[in-house]
Order: sequence, then C-alpha cells, then structure tokens
Amino acid sequence: MEGQADDLRARDSEGLLETVLALPDHLRDALWRIESARLRPVPDASAAIVCGMGGSAIGGDLAVAALGDLLTKPLLTVRGYELPSWAPAGAAVLCSSYSGDTEETLACYAAAEALGADRVVATTGGQLADSARADGVPVVGLPSGMPPRAAVGYMFCVATELAAIAEAAPAIHTEIDGAATHLEMRAEAVQARAAEIADLLGDAVPVFYGAGLTSPVAYRWKTQVNENGKLPAFSSPLPEASHNEIAGWEGSRQRLACVMLSDVDQHPREIRRFEATGELIEPHAAAVIRVDAEGVTRTARLLEMVMLGDLLSLHLAARHGVAPSPIQAIDALKAKLGSP
Ligand code: F6R
Repeated sequence: MEGQADDLRARDSEGLLETVLALPDHLRDALWRIESARLRPVPDASAAIVCGMGGSAIGGDLAVAALGDLLTKPLLTVRGYELPSWAPAGAAVLCSSYSGDTEETLACYAAAEALGADRVVATTGGQLADSARADGVPVVGLPSGMPPRAAVGYMFCVATELAAIAEAAPAIHTEIDGAATHLEMRAEAVQARAAEIADLLGDAVPVFYGAGLTSPVAYRWKTQVNENGKLPAFSSPLPEASHNEIAGWEGSRQRLACVMLSDVDQHPREIRRFEATGELIEPHAAAVIRVDAEGVTRTARLLEMVMLGDLLSLHLAARHGVAPSPIQAIDALKAKLGSP
C-alpha cells in the first residue's frame, strides 16, 4: 500500500492524493460552514436549482442521487449561461463556483436575480463573492487552495442544504457525518480497490456505466480521468445506453473497457440489464469490470464511489506519467475566451 501511494505521489507535487483522502474532513467542515452561514428557509420555493460548471456542478447531481426518493420537489443542476425558460420565479437557486469567476455561473447568478429567485452562493471568492456581498446574498465560504474538482465534498453538502432550505428534502447532516466516518473506516480498502481497477483497465479507454445512485458517479469518474489523468474517458447512464450505445461496442476492437458501477438500490431490471449488457459487451471489450458500492446509507455508498473514482484517476495519471493537478487545456481555453 505504501509503495502504491509513493507511486501516486511521484508527480503529485500539489498533493492531490492527500486532498482526495481528506474527503471525510471536507464533509465535516462543509457541515460546519453551512451551519455558520445560517441560510434562510425558502419553504415556498417550487424548485431548487444548482448552477455551476465542472467540479462545481457535480455536487448538484450527487445531491439528487443521495436524496433519491426523499425529494418532493425538483432539484436540478444547470450547466450553462441561462436558467431554463420554465424556471419558477420563487425558485431557490444555488450559484456554486469554487473560483467565483466562472462566466456561465456569473450569468446564471444575474439571471436568477432577474427571475426573482432566492439566491445562495458557494465560493472561495472572486466576482461571485463580491456580487453576493454587494447584493446581501448569503455566501457559504469555501476553503481556498485546492483544485475546484477536489472540493466535491463541499459542493455536495451545499447542494443537499439547498434542497433542505427549499423544503425539497430533509436535511441529511447526520447521514453525511455518518458517511464521513464510513469513509475513514474504508479508506485502505478503497485505495486497494482503486489500484486493482487501474490494473484491470490497463491502457484501455474506460467507459463508465451507472444507473440510479451511480449515474452521476459514472460521470464524475469520467471527468476525473479526463482532468487528473489527461486521458479520454466516457460515461453513460443505463438503461438508456443498453438501447443504443451497446451496439457500438462491436467496433471497439478491445480498445475500450467497460466499468459498471452497481448499487443495491438499483431497480431489479437495471441490475439484470447490467449483467446482460456486460455479457454482450465482453467479447468486444478490453475488459468488463464490475464495481459494487459499499455502505449502509445511500450517501455513504455514493461518497465511497466518488472517492474510489478520484483515486482511480490518480492511479491512471501516475501510470501515464502525468501530474494530476494542472489542467492546461482548460486554462488555455479560458484564456482564449478571455474568461478569468
Ligand atoms: C477544475 C475543475 C473545473 C472547474 C470548472 C468551473 O478543477 O474541476 O471543472 O470546476 O472550470 O470552475 P469553478 O469551479 O471555479 O467555477
């Protein structure tokens, strides 16, 4: 285990491994920051909307997955410059941007004001914090100094809190705290499993499949492999992928590997679809790898899967000899667009 961690640290000069392993601390710190922000309830909100991009958006999707059937109102993630045309005037809107300078999120912050929405902000600073301060909009302050995608625990907690203040779902502070303890207990096993999955993947391009609870996790794994590993990776939700994408595996010629993210709460037919899809893909894939979410609560299983995928992406970065933290392509694009 120590030898593996040393391999991961070789090019990880910014200490992303430590940040990923600190997820339990991030969750507890997030709960404390949320309580300190004393957000006002918005009981009349007919919908809750999380606006953000990339690492600052995924918390919204993960919150929907964790809350599952507890949700009694729409909880939606908006990635882009505009709110949906149907967004209700009294919606509770969380504008979440780690840097506070992401142009799409700033545009949604303005759009939410025009809509008359009840706004909340989660950020480390930037223009978003300045505007919120000037407008009297409550801010959940986040700790600076990590890549935005590593703040996933914070973004998740704030999104679940948005659902709570909008009375779209009960607060799940106790469940989050329990998940933090679960992650601490499982840290070694999760690290070992990440190394195993990286071995099984080898040099194949991964395609991550999720359903229900694991749908946003599959997308998170894809984006972490992209950003940390600087590698192509893809994700799709089932059952949909079993109605179209499954046919494309025939042309994979063993270059792609399929990773199926299973969970006990998935619909029994989804579980059966995973099995059958895996069997049909197997002859064409470099590997078919099944990964089961472990944990008693949905939140524990979800966050363990997030940590597992983050660690997998660090293993893939190490194997390909790249530093996981810098994301030159994204920085170059922002520079080209004149975006801060
Ligand atoms: C960087 C990352 C990106 C950013 C995205 C939005 O680590 O994950 O996906 O999250 O470019 O920037 P922020 O989070 O600052 O609003």
